[in-house]
Amino acid sequence: MKHDVLVKDKDRTQKCLEDKNLMDSLYVYTDLVPKGCHNGACGVCKIKVHEGEFHKDKMNRKHVSQEEENNNVLLACKVFPKGDMKIEFVSREKNESKQQYRFGS
Ligand code: FES
Repeated sequence: MKHDVLVKDKDRTQKCLEDKNLMDSLYVYTDLVPKGCHNGACGVCKIKVHEGEFHKDKMNRKHVSQEEENNNVLLACKVFPKGDMKIEFVSREKNESKQQYRFGS
């Protein structure tokens, strides 16, 4: 099953499969997503999920803190859509991946 995923920072919507993580569905759109490992190791795919249902695999704590995870700041390669979603990439460079998402900013 496919769902509409809006990438807010690019103002574009793409169809994503329920059984694929967001990075695997979106990586062909190179202007939308950063290049990354697709397995939770590099942290470049950090997103904020603004809306939508999803399920997620275990986050790599090197890149996503428990507080971030509780606030839906996640790794796109560990998130699978269960409905339409709105997301925003919050980390595009490897050297930014260790920065924490600032809540409320
Ligand atoms: S692409 Fe590397 S952590 Fe997601």
